Amino acid sequence: MPIKAFIFDLDGVIVDTAVFHYQAWKRMANQKLGFDISEEFNETLKGVSRVESLERILQLGNKTITDQEKIDFATQKNDWYLELVNGMDASDILPGITEMLQQSKNAGIKIGLGSVSKNARMILEKVGIIGYFDAIIDGTKISRGKPDPEVFLKGALELGCDPSECLVFEDALAGVEAAVSAGMKTVGIGTKEALPLATITYKNLAGVAINDILEHIDEG
Ligand code: BG6
Ligand code: MG
Repeated sequence: MPIKAFIFDLDGVIVDTAVFHYQAWKRMANQKLGFDISEEFNETLKGVSRVESLERILQLGNKTITDQEKIDFATQKNDWYLELVNGMDASDILPGITEMLQQSKNAGIKIGLGSVSKNARMILEKVGIIGYFDAIIDGTKISRGKPDPEVFLKGALELGCDPSECLVFEDALAGVEAAVSAGMKTVGIGTKEALPLATITYKNLAGVAINDILEHIDEG
């Protein structure tokens, strides 16, 4: 079926906040739990919800904490994350994204956001591109994080498209898996080695034309 909608992940695709999530979790692990988390381990947290990320970190360090501490730690991590996000503006939009949104609008392709983050709307507003989106599915609208397909299936529904008519832009393994489970093709932002299930991959979207993508995914 022809592609009628693009659904973008936020963190690591639209803005470089994936690194802020990592810094905030690393600070949490260092200061509150007494161990470190590697960049490699952090890859397994991408696309995963705040609560589930904390659970995975606790499991890594073999730590048990109370339910109240879990709430406090997750809140603390988010406060540290927000401190990092606070200084962001339009200059933090990743290469080629604004142009891709504008090209999509011009071509009549619908634009959705598919993010597990509860901070997604605030960040889109902060960097000034929220007006491009026809549907925003974020952490406040879903009950299961990626790799569950819920976030993308809700996106397709809100955009009024069949899943097979949606193309997902993702930087995370869990996100590509979620899109595949939703029956959608994917543009991986990163390398083919890191995102083997993506239909095609680009290092970033600088200078990429919509037609380039659409031609390639037909072959993919
Ligand atoms: C995803 C990120 O987009 O959102 C994860 O890739 C993050 O790293 C998740 O844990 C939830 O985000 P937030 O902003 O609600 O804590
Ligand atoms: Mg991401």
